[in-house]
Amino acid sequence: MSEELHLPLNSGKNELYSALLPQLEALLAAESDLIANLANMAAVLKEAFGFLWVGFYLVREDQLLLGPFQGPVACTRIGFGKGVCGKAWETGQTQVVPDVEAFPGHIACSSASRSEIVVPLYAKGKVVAVLDVDSEKVGHFDTTDQQYLEKMVSLISFPG
Ligand code: SME
Repeated sequence: MSEELHLPLNSGKNELYSALLPQLEALLAAESDLIANLANMAAVLKEAFGFLWVGFYLVREDQLLLGPFQGPVACTRIGFGKGVCGKAWETGQTQVVPDVEAFPGHIACSSASRSEIVVPLYAKGKVVAVLDVDSEKVGHFDTTDQQYLEKMVSLISFPG
């Protein structure tokens, strides 16, 4: 595909995600480098939805290390089980947090963040990274986001 997204006008969340999915698939299929693909995926989501922050943390030994992202400067390292990201790593399950202030141990990288979704990425049955998306609106994320973001991260292949 060309390096340009085609976004349907005046569309709902479902239509937007379903228009993005094949474009993202084509974009990722054209490149094998992990960092390049994570960077473009963060850019696609930021451009399409205008999320406050969207990016990846990569598992590095006993911590999550900040990877490619779009948005304000963020914390660089997160421990296992810490914050929403660490919880997604520990449980291996997507965390949907409608109100970050009600999530015990939430790590506030940006004080503007009000709700959050974190989706784990797997390679060979293990969590190797997480996708973190933050919104300025309370209750921004629902099962539509969860389903599409889980599908999207499954398109990423990890080396080795
Ligand atoms: N809020 C996250 C930390 C990462 S930043 O939001 C980018 C957490 O609680 O894990």
